[in-house]
Amino acid sequence: MTKILLQETTAFHPVLAVAGRVATAERVPVYAIGGYVRDLLMGRPSKDIDFVTLGDGIAMARKVAAQMEDRPEVIVYKNFGTAMFRTGDVQVEFVGARRESYRSQSRKPAVSPGTLEDDQKRRDFTINALAIDLSEDHFGELVDPFNGMHDLDQRTIRTPQDPDITYQDDPLRMLRAIRFATQLHFNIEKASLDSIRRCRDRIGIVSTERVSEELNKIISAPRPSEGFRLLFDTGLLKLILPQLAALQGVQYMDGKGHKDNFYHTLKVLDNVASVSDNLWLRWAALLHDIAKPATQRYDKDAGWTFHGHEDKGARMVPGIFRRLKLPLNEKMRYVQKLVQLHLRPIVLAQEIVTDSAIRRLLFDAGEQVDDLMMLCEADITSKNEEKVRRYRKNFELVRRKLSEVEEKDRIRNWQPPVTGELIMETFGLKPSREVGIIKTAIREAILDGVIPNNYDEAYRFMLEKGRELGLHPVS
Ligand code: CTP
Repeated sequence: MTKILLQETTAFHPVLAVAGRVATAERVPVYAIGGYVRDLLMGRPSKDIDFVTLGDGIAMARKVAAQMEDRPEVIVYKNFGTAMFRTGDVQVEFVGARRESYRSQSRKPAVSPGTLEDDQKRRDFTINALAIDLSEDHFGELVDPFNGMHDLDQRTIRTPQDPDITYQDDPLRMLRAIRFATQLHFNIEKASLDSIRRCRDRIGIVSTERVSEELNKIISAPRPSEGFRLLFDTGLLKLILPQLAALQGVQYMDGKGHKDNFYHTLKVLDNVASVSDNLWLRWAALLHDIAKPATQRYDKDAGWTFHGHEDKGARMVPGIFRRLKLPLNEKMRYVQKLVQLHLRPIVLAQEIVTDSAIRRLLFDAGEQVDDLMMLCEADITSKNEEKVRRYRKNFELVRRKLSEVEEKDRIRNWQPPVTGELIMETFGLKPSREVGIIKTAIREAILDGVIPNNYDEAYRFMLEKGRELGLHPVS
């Protein structure tokens, strides 16, 4: 058996030594197990430590907590037979070793006491089933009946038992396999992948919240495309985010094909991920072309077109967020806005960049203009290097102009200097169509540079517009 010397590792936490002392005094074996051991061996930081004991987990948690310097309060989950406490910024959980049996319609197993090996076998992956003995005589010994250490070395996701059992028991593990593979840059062994393909429909018994939690972790990984390829190839994507799966494929007319929008989207997502950790910007990348299948047309002269896919895409965002139980708040509106505007900078980058077009972009994008620029640059995935170079150069120009115009006109958080209230007051109007017409005319005149951005000019322009509409100031 391999012996790891915990003292030599940086992630060693004092609670392990305390648990070991208590275990020895009580003559009840205690092991550190699961994600903490995996991360320790991989040199990754971890804030959760799980312990398993061959006895009463709750009693063990109380005894260990009593020996800790900071005397943490123990929270008991009687129904689960578990107990946890916090020490510093680490969360510690104790449970008695168990065997599990599952029923077909639930992820919640019936549990009974078991051996350490029963407990390891019921876990999802061999790399998550490693245990470290903490008793005095064996302190630091790795207990690894399923060759988790070998799989860590080989960077392989493998289940401790027949994968059909592991995934049937708890179908969330299909997503966890893909999430770990993406986060850790591991491969999923073939038997497991085949099993996920077979068991994929079982994902239906998993709560939406858990599905989205895993999806968000995949999206937050360094190269999220790895996870989405696996989701697609196993058939899971069609079940959890069918709109995205529908982007895959190329149609041909008169021998002309369009690009595969699924693989293009994944490239854009990876590009965004390489420059930003913002989860919602990554979601915007994932959904930016989501309405392409719905807007796709073939025209003899123009070839394939996707007119209006940005508007339709923005309208699809709330439905997708609702279905996945993602927040329906400003995060969703942020994603919507970026999807809606994602073509604007690229259009600018192709044309002559006028100040008024820049002002308009700043006005529409507001605080999100920098994120929008990131998304748009990420959207350049052409294989034509000359085209890419040209776009990149124009983007530099757009960025320069954006900061020049912003410096000059302060449009980002801008509200026109004449308000609707002032228009109503001046002409003695109630809220009406006329108020909207005058307000829009003032905003457009400023954005187009017809009048300067100040109160006096805007007021004069308001009077002029009023006159055109047959209105007169009341006093
Ligand atoms: N586990 C499992 N099946 C699940 C969830 C968890 O077998 N569906 C086991 C694994 O042994 C896992 C441990 O419970 O290592 C702790 O689970 P959790 O805290 O969710 O995952 P971690 O492995 O710690 O990883 P992360 O914190 O990244 O989710």
